[in-house]
Amino acid sequence: MCGIIGISSNKSVSASIISSLKKLEYRGYDSAGIATLFEGEIKELKSEGRVDTLEQNFDLKNLKGNIGIGHVRWATHGIPNSVNAHPHSSHNVSVVHNGIIENSTILKKYLIGKGHKFKSQTDTEVIVHLITENLKTRELEEAITSTLKQLHGSFALGIVFKDIPDLIVGARRGSPLAVGYGPSENYLGSDSYALKSMTNKITYLDDGEFCIIKKDQVVFFNEDGKNINKKILELSSDEASYEKGDFKHFMAKEIEEQPNTIKTGIKEYVDKTNSEINIYNFPWNVNEINSIKLIGCGTAYHSCLMAKYWFEELTQLDVSIDIASEFRYRKNRFKKDNLYIFVSQSGETADTYAALDLCNKNNMKTCAVVNVIESSIARDVNFVLPIHCGPEIGVASTKAFLGQILILYILALKLASLRKEINNKNYKEKVKDLQNLPSLIEKSLLIDNDIQAISSTFNEAKGSMFLGRGFSYPIALEGALKLKELSYVHAEGYPAGEMKHGPLALIEDGMPVVVLAPRDSYYKKTISNMQEVIARGAKVLLITNKSKDEIVSENIWETIEVENTNDDLLPFLLTIPLQKLAYYSALKKGYDIDKPRNLAKSVTVE
Ligand code: AGP
Repeated sequence: MCGIIGISSNKSVSASIISSLKKLEYRGYDSAGIATLFEGEIKELKSEGRVDTLEQNFDLKNLKGNIGIGHVRWATHGIPNSVNAHPHSSHNVSVVHNGIIENSTILKKYLIGKGHKFKSQTDTEVIVHLITENLKTRELEEAITSTLKQLHGSFALGIVFKDIPDLIVGARRGSPLAVGYGPSENYLGSDSYALKSMTNKITYLDDGEFCIIKKDQVVFFNEDGKNINKKILELSSDEASYEKGDFKHFMAKEIEEQPNTIKTGIKEYVDKTNSEINIYNFPWNVNEINSIKLIGCGTAYHSCLMAKYWFEELTQLDVSIDIASEFRYRKNRFKKDNLYIFVSQSGETADTYAALDLCNKNNMKTCAVVNVIESSIARDVNFVLPIHCGPEIGVASTKAFLGQILILYILALKLASLRKEINNKNYKEKVKDLQNLPSLIEKSLLIDNDIQAISSTFNEAKGSMFLGRGFSYPIALEGALKLKELSYVHAEGYPAGEMKHGPLALIEDGMPVVVLAPRDSYYKKTISNMQEVIARGAKVLLITNKSKDEIVSENIWETIEVENTNDDLLPFLLTIPLQKLAYYSALKKGYDIDKPRNLAKSVTVE
C-alpha cells in the first residue's frame, strides 16, 4: 500500500530517490518524504500530497548525502499530512514502513514510559523508537533482530542510522521488499518496478528476513540474525512497457493493449497447429482434484466468479469462490482433493496472500494466476499460471482482468479435456475459437465515440445499475467497480433476475442502467428484466452482440453491439465498453485516472 526506496551509494542519492518515488506512486500517493545522512546528521523532508509537492516544498537538488531512504504513503494510521508522512525519525534512527504494526499501542505506552517522545499518529513511529531503545544496549544486528521479534503485524522497512552512516537496513514480514544491485551503489525497494530504472539484478526478501545494504556489499539474515544466502534474479528490461507512450493515461494504454496481451496469453498456452492447450509441469494428477476453490479481491474476485461459470459449464468439478478477506477468517473445510487458485494481478495483495498462507499451513494444493511472476504469492504457491500482460500501472485493472479470465478459461478447458468431460471435437473447436479473440477485441475497441457521449449521463446521475445473467453477471460487477473507482459515483452490479427482489425500488426516472444481454441462453430472460426497469423510467444502455435478429423491445436509450463469437468468449468483448465507459466518465470529470483517490495498485495491508 505504500512505496519504499533506499539507496546506499558512492555519490549523492536524493535525485535517484525522488525519481524512484515517482515510479512508486501507484502504490500510494497521499504524502511523500525523504531522509538522507550527511555530515553525521539525519536530514528528513516530507510533505502531504504527491512527490511533485515534496519537490516544490523543498530544495531537494541540494539535499546532500550518499545514503538515503524515501517513501510514498497510503494512510492506514493517521490522516495524510506532513507529520504522519514517512520517514519517521528519532535523534539517531530514521524509518520508512509499508504495512501495519498491530501491537503499536502497547509498544507506544512502553516507549513513552522509557522517555521517548512521539510526534505523529502513526504506528510506524513506534518502530523508530523501539530500534532507538534497543540500540542503547545492543549491537546493530542484535538490535534489529530483537526489534523485529517485538513487532506484531506486517512490515517492509528501510532504516538508516546517524551513528552508522554507511548502511541501510531492510526488513520484511508480509509486505514485499526487494534489493537491487548497481555499480558502486545498492538499493532497497518495494518492488522491482521502482528499481528497474537503476538495475535489473534483484533479490527478494522473504518473510522474517532482513538485510544490511552498503554501497559495495549486501548481507542477508534470517529472523534469528544468522547470515543466509539469497539468489540474484536478472529481470528482463522491458522499459517501454513502463511508459505511457502517446497515451494520456496508463489506463488508456492498457485498455488498447488488450488485443496484444490476449494474443500473448494465448501463445503462451495454446498450440495453434494442433488446437491443443499446453499447461506444462502441472504438478497434480487431475484425478487428485475434485473441487476448485477460487480466491481473490476486487477485480480479481470478479475473475474468480467468471471462472466459476466456465468451470461449471465445462467440467463436473465442484467449484466455489471466495473474497480473500472473508476466506482468511472463515471456518474452512480443508480437504486434500481441493485445489486452491489464487488470482492476483500484483501477487502482493495482503488478504489474498494471507489466504494462501492459511492454505499452505494446511498443506493444500495451491495455484496462482498472477501477472507479477516474482511476487510473493507466485513464490509461495505450488504452481504458477502467469497471465503475461506486462506491467499494469493504472490502479484500475483492465488488461489484467482480461488476462486473468483468459488463463482461467484455458485452465477450465484443459481440465475438462484431461478429465474427459468435454468431447474432443467440442474441445478443439473452443481452442480454435480462441485464436479469433484478439481481433474480436480489437474490433470491440472501436466503439469510442458512442461511449464518450453516453458517459456524461452516468456522471450526472446519483447512481447506476449494471445488470447481467449467467456469464454476463461477473462482467456487470466488474463494470460497476470500474465506474465506482474511477468516477467516484455509486454503481451497483446485480444479477438481472434479482432486481424484482428489492433493488427495483431504486429505479427512478432517468436512472442509467447498463444491461448486458448477449444473444446467449440467458438473452430472452435478461431482455424481460430490461423491460421491467425501462417500464419504471430507467435509461437503459443495452450491450449485446451483433445479430440479424431484431431486438424485441422499445424505449432503449442506447445500444452497443460487440462482435460475435461463441458464448464462452462473449464476456471478454462485453468488458470492453464498460472499461471505456468508466474511463471516459472519469476523463470528463478531470479525475486522476491512473491514481484514483483513496486507492492504490497493490493493497499490501489488510
Ligand atoms: C481493480 O480495478 C482494483 N484495482 C482492485 O479491485 C484490485 O483488483 C484488487 O485490489 C486486487 O488486486 P490484485 O489483483 O493485485 O490482487
